[in-house]
Amino acid sequence: MIGFGKRVSREARAVVTGAGSGIGRSFAIELAARGGSVVCSDIDEERARETVALVDAAGGTATAVVCDVRESDDVVALRDRAVEWFSAPPTLLINNAGIGAGGHTVGNFGLDEWDRILQINLWGVIHGCHHFLPLMKDAGAGGVINVASAAGFAAGPRMAAYNVSKAGVMSLSETLAAELAGTGVRISVLCPTFVKTNIFTGEDIEAGAADAAARLARVVGMSPGRVARMTLDAHDRGRLCVVPQLDARAIWLSKRLTPATHARLGGLVSRLAPFTSED
Ligand SMILES: NC(=O)c1ccc[n+]([C@@H]2O[C@H](COP(=O)([O-])OP(=O)(O)OC[C@H]3O[C@@H](n4cnc5c(N)ncnc54)[C@H](O)[C@@H]3O)[C@@H](O)[C@H]2O)c1
Repeated sequence: MIGFGKRVSREARAVVTGAGSGIGRSFAIELAARGGSVVCSDIDEERARETVALVDAAGGTATAVVCDVRESDDVVALRDRAVEWFSAPPTLLINNAGIGAGGHTVGNFGLDEWDRILQINLWGVIHGCHHFLPLMKDAGAGGVINVASAAGFAAGPRMAAYNVSKAGVMSLSETLAAELAGTGVRISVLCPTFVKTNIFTGEDIEAGAADAAARLARVVGMSPGRVARMTLDAHDRGRLCVVPQLDARAIWLSKRLTPATHARLGGLVSRLAPFTSED
């Protein structure tokens, strides 16, 4: 059984969703560097294979599996393929796949888009937890890292669907922390602000907002490699909420200590930052 001090990220049998880019790719490379074997899954086969090639080049062991996390059957097939490839249950699942969305106020963001965001960012994580956790609980060992965002608690304006999806991931993870106590399986939830990845090029971010976010990420964003390393270390220490950046910690504190001021600041940002096609 994995005790509290066991380093789950060392020599892991790991499955990473959304491993074809950004934070997911960095998780795969870092896990391989820590002696693990990694199933790199992504909706985009070519990108997943690129990550496998990078892991191979660094002397690690990985395989690519195509999986759309919106589809429960795909996630079942991913789990079964992982068990077959490892010849054992996975010891670490990273529910990382996600897309960005923003730039529109509620009422101006289509319901189809709401659905798409929640399907990928929230249901994708629910599918992963639902289909993998029974295996880990039976084994009495393992870990799950869910990738949320500081948006899950910041509740910034013009990104309601993204905020709601990430708040859902945080709530699911906090619930699991209680449910998994004493099972040997641990859970962490990652809540970063800006990370330098490809997320700002997605079709669900309004063009002006995407430009502004990409510029900010270039200036203040953390590298995905650093985020992956900090998160795996925090998971090894048994930490539930991983908030890697100072700005994210400041937002977390302001929300907790002065909730009314936090909400007023959000209103100010919404009025003073007219950068989208709605303005
Ligand atoms: N980059 C940031 O600033 C930032 C900040 C906070 C949280 N996050 C979260 O980090 C996670 C990773 O994002 P990233 O920044 O590395 O973005 P990214 O766009 O670089 O990578 C996301 C990967 O997910 C894959 N993907 C998209 N839809 C999928 C689906 N339905 N099924 C399986 N794979 C799918 C994409 O093909 C891509 O390879 C996301 O959950 C995102 O919300 C990112």
